[in-house]
Amino acid sequence: MSSMKYEDMRAKIENIVNQPIRKFKTEELKGIINRYHKNHPKSKAAYERAKKIIPGGVEHNLAFNHPFPLTSKRVYECYMETIDNIVLTDYLMCGGPIILGHQYKPLIDKVIEVIQELGPCHGITNEYEYMAAEQLQKYFPSCKIIRWLQSGTEADMLAIRIARTFTNRKWIIKIGGSYHGWSDQLVYDMHVPGTKLLESHGIPKNVFKWTDSSPPNDIETLKQMFKEKRKVAAVIIEPMGGESGSIPVKPGFNKEVEELCHENKTLMISDEVVCAFRLSMQGGQGYFDYTPDISVFGKIVGHGFPSAAAIGGRADVMSVCAGGVSGGKKAYSGGTLAANPLTCAAAYYAMKYVEETNASEKAIKAATRLSTGLNKLFEDYNLPWFSYNYGATVHFHTSCLFGLDLGDSQQAGELPKRKDFMGEMGAALVDQELISVAGSRFYTCMLHTNEIIDETIQKIDKICQKIE
Ligand SMILES: Cc1ncc(COP(=O)(O)O)c(C=O)c1O
Repeated sequence: MSSMKYEDMRAKIENIVNQPIRKFKTEELKGIINRYHKNHPKSKAAYERAKKIIPGGVEHNLAFNHPFPLTSKRVYECYMETIDNIVLTDYLMCGGPIILGHQYKPLIDKVIEVIQELGPCHGITNEYEYMAAEQLQKYFPSCKIIRWLQSGTEADMLAIRIARTFTNRKWIIKIGGSYHGWSDQLVYDMHVPGTKLLESHGIPKNVFKWTDSSPPNDIETLKQMFKEKRKVAAVIIEPMGGESGSIPVKPGFNKEVEELCHENKTLMISDEVVCAFRLSMQGGQGYFDYTPDISVFGKIVGHGFPSAAAIGGRADVMSVCAGGVSGGKKAYSGGTLAANPLTCAAAYYAMKYVEETNASEKAIKAATRLSTGLNKLFEDYNLPWFSYNYGATVHFHTSCLFGLDLGDSQQAGELPKRKDFMGEMGAALVDQELISVAGSRFYTCMLHTNEIIDETIQKIDKICQKIE
């Protein structure tokens, strides 16, 4: 399970949300923001230029934005250098897919070779399609048939379409707070459980006629929903809990979902976009020991090379998304660039190198060292903050935005303040030449050595000194 007991995590989340956030000392925060401006003038200028042509001046939701986004110059190993020549120890890892480290040379060399022979894309079958699928199946035996797609969003979208086609039912239930990409029907109750339509702008309400969510870790409510809705096509889960385990999953919950689904002839969809090879080589399903009907994979299967995603599952279920133009009842899917040689070769070699180098094991060791060190630090400073890791994903809770109870008006009112604090924490991390996901999550790779982790802990020690 995670590096901390579930009950302890829950207690610590409650503790943080039930007290005012521990803020930066005013002068220290000023110093952090002033240094950010002073140290990153070229990124600031790049942002000003980008703002004139790119919405909000930034393309990446993951990009760290406060007080302005940083612009990259190069990446290598576990480092990212900005155009201001600042070298950051990288724990963003592109939001999860990089586990061998940036620019892993054997992988880059193989991909270049393939492009020189096959080009990026040509439209008929290439051998890497089945080679990569076989490699994926080795670790995900529940995936009897696998189809390559172009993003996690697409794969999740197809997963629910397959489920509806196969079961001839309509309802899809997701777990509150989980993220399954940005397709119309899944932009619902994301990030903070209970927010329902809060982020669903531009999507007509009736699109959600057959989508609903159940609160995290609450099997009784889910059972009740099955009774009310009866014809549930699928339940879709994030194995570690919503937002890659920011809302930690209760041990046994995934298995209970599997059993409930199978009692009701409903399909269980396991969204392994972040878990595969990062939580364990066998992803969430191997780690938590359950067997989904459909699995969804994203960015990590291609180690960050573009257009890499896949969907796999039971042979009978997957038969409804066969390619080509033959007739029969079909969950229509496509994608001119899907399963291109570049992506499939990258996926094949990435999985092979992850296996050969024990990259997951090494990244998990680094993550465990980091979360253990951080907890010791927070105790030393008498801060209510805490950290835990699920495999090679480290969470670092300071304001516990995801733990707020929106039914409680006082906690709901705290949402913007707590969000701002995460931005400030992100800036404080950059001040220490560290880059994280949203100031609350660290992804590790096999090149985060003990020395690098210990140096990171020392840097976060300096941040703790700046708190009131
Ligand atoms: C669990 C999960 N599912 C789906 C997605 C969407 O994947 P993509 O960004 O490739 O569309 C993400 C993205 O981070 C994710 O974390």
